[in-house]
Amino acid sequence: MIDCKSARQIGLMRQAGKIVAGALRLARELAVSDVTTDHIDTEIEKYIRKNHGIPIFKGYRGYPRSTCTSINEEVVHGIPSSSRKLKKGDILSIDVGVEYKKYMADGAITVPIGEVSLEAKKLIEVCEEALKKGIEIIRPGILLSQVAGRIQKYVESNGYSVVRDYAGHGIGRCMHEDPQVPNYVSEELLANDVILYPGTTLAIEPMICMGSGETEVLENKWTVVTKDRKLSAHFEYTVVVTETGVEILTVE
Ligand code: MF3
Ligand code: CO
Repeated sequence: MIDCKSARQIGLMRQAGKIVAGALRLARELAVSDVTTDHIDTEIEKYIRKNHGIPIFKGYRGYPRSTCTSINEEVVHGIPSSSRKLKKGDILSIDVGVEYKKYMADGAITVPIGEVSLEAKKLIEVCEEALKKGIEIIRPGILLSQVAGRIQKYVESNGYSVVRDYAGHGIGRCMHEDPQVPNYVSEELLANDVILYPGTTLAIEPMICMGSGETEVLENKWTVVTKDRKLSAHFEYTVVVTETGVEILTVE
């Protein structure tokens, strides 16, 4: 069931979204070479709590930390670690979810650590732009498959692949609500397509790869990596469909 949020609910999600955006801004500042992902996670958790939010990843199905920090071939769900130092040339995806007065927002960015290769830079740019392009067409009456198709087309026309094993999601009182928000069009999506109405709240999160886009999960049961160990990037915004278009909630 996909429920439409009221103005009050959207207001609380907007507050949660502001904390997410502030946390990601902080992450961007902290993400430099020689810093550990553990340090970034610790600082972000402090920032969230100082702003009266709750980090929603911590404890979710036993996940141990407040953020996911996924480096290079890691696609999503990388676990912050005190033994993993960032180094020049890495790309780092930081994913943060926040609850504020029972309502949630989820967001992610990928950042370069120091100077990175041109290819890595391009991958990051295409991922962010794909997300923006997908969001741009949202207004009441648009189908989820149109959003997915727009993202997929932009990514593939730039020579990259879209991860198919993971998707975005509805969001609200729970981090994962209906519908699923894939970043590619499938028979299954077309058969179960969803019309977007004012008040629909979605976390849209393309994960894109230089290689095949196939993934596997490491032995820690969390970290998702590309099978071919080629680079991957990830961006995520929480958005709400408005009467006339769309509003991004994970902005300051
Ligand atoms: N943005 C991710 C998601 O929507 C974050 C979940 S990480 C977890 O699924 F640790 F909480 F599982
Ligand atoms: Co998400």
